[in-house]
Amino acid sequence: NSPQARVVAVDGPSGSGKSTVSKRLASALGSAYLDTGAMYRAAALAALRSGVDLADKDAVAEAVRTAKLELGTTPGDPFTRLDGEPVDAEIRGAEVTGAVSAVAGVPAVREHLIAEQRRIIAEAGAGIVVEGRDIAEVVAPDADLKVYLYADELERARRRSAENDTDVSATAADIARRDAADSKTTKPLEAAAGAVAIDTTHLGIDAVVGRMLALLSNGEIT
Ligand code: DC
Repeated sequence: NSPQARVVAVDGPSGSGKSTVSKRLASALGSAYLDTGAMYRAAALAALRSGVDLADKDAVAEAVRTAKLELGTTPGDPFTRLDGEPVDAEIRGAEVTGAVSAVAGVPAVREHLIAEQRRIIAEAGAGIVVEGRDIAEVVAPDADLKVYLYADELERARRRSAENDTDVSATAADIARRDAADSKTTKPLEAAAGAVAIDTTHLGIDAVVGRMLALLSNGEIT
């Protein structure tokens, strides 16, 4: 890849700082940004709206395939639309958060969304920062830089509860539940082979982004 078309994979669990760091890094690089979690969340909302039984994998996959998902890849304005309607707030609400692991666990849903993610990555002429759970291992194994962000469970819960204005212990329980549910499908608590692991528990956003820029600019990353 030319420096302009670099692909950066950022994986990690909820509250690890992925989204903030990935958007900042994309802005610094002048590249695109893709939030694959938003795609799974929009897919979950599509399934919920269609009224299908979430345990019926074929029906869930069909509901997702027939929905129109649109993702904005500008780091300053990463919108998500479902069937033409902005759903940025709704996909981060409790209902979608409670349903997303089940929907993301349907193999046909993943197949569909991963194909879409690879298409967006291939079309990103100025490079792209892609965040999720399986980017380094599955979606973009040829990424120029793979980073795994993690943080102590309590710190992750503190960040999420501050963002969503929710109780820390309830948020901690919710994060633990989602990590466990997501672990059936991806490896949210493990760094992929070749990924640089960064503990963000005591690191500010600028420090994490700075480390990633240094990794990209030193010759070890090709
Ligand atoms: O990063 P997030 O919390 O917005 O992700 C929402 C859910 O989507 C998460 O519970 C796991 C799932 N997900 C996934 O399975 N694979 C990805 N690449 C990204 C997210």
